[in-house]
Amino acid sequence: MFDKCNNKKTNNLSKKNRFKTVIITGTPGTGKTMIAKKLSKIVKFNVINVNDSIKKNKLSEGYDKKRKCIIVDVKKLNKAIIKIINNCKKNCCCSGLIIESHLSHNLPKNYVDLCIVTKCNLKELKKRLIKRGYNAEKVRENLDSEIFDICLVEATEKGHKCIVMDTTTPIKVSAKLGKIANLIKKFK
Ligand SMILES: Nc1ncnc2c1ncn2[C@@H]1O[C@H](COP(=O)(O)OP(=O)(O)O)[C@@H](O)[C@H]1O
Ligand SMILES: [Mg+2]
Repeated sequence: MFDKCNNKKTNNLSKKNRFKTVIITGTPGTGKTMIAKKLSKIVKFNVINVNDSIKKNKLSEGYDKKRKCIIVDVKKLNKAIIKIINNCKKNCCCSGLIIESHLSHNLPKNYVDLCIVTKCNLKELKKRLIKRGYNAEKVRENLDSEIFDICLVEATEKGHKCIVMDTTTPIKVSAKLGKIANLIKKFK
């Protein structure tokens, strides 16, 4: 995973291959990291794991003991991500970025070409979250977030072009990823 691109630009990207930014949002446990890894191999984009960026750039504003998660100022986070996007556009030889986080959909839509929203069957999601060691309250909170489609609703409200991706089974994932990769290639 990477935070800052050090690869020097080797050639000007033609208009057809302009730099593209894909964000992946969704309730924790719904498969964002997995989808980002798989998609990056197909489209050859670099991946930004926002959790790593928060740690590296010290963007955490404390710890919410009750909810057992770090507190993040979304405005500061957006600023940091936009800086990475702009840096990559100018200096990097990669043709695009994949930004994965349940906070990624807070980015302004003019920086984003496509928003993938990962979803998962509730029974399977519960299993994944328990396996991750989340306590009952945190599991409940995330299942509620999935039931109410919080990430999808917020991403849509923000004006992103959204594609929903169900990761309940690996079979569903591989079929859809190819289609998404083709769609990304066609973006002007
Ligand atoms: N399509 C899938 N089939 C089987 N297991 C999956 C699938 N997608 C994700 N997982 C598993 O679910 C867990 C959570 O996935 P992850 O990508 O870490 O979610 P997120 O980044 O959204 O929190 C991981 O253990 C991962 O291996
Ligand atoms: Mg993840």
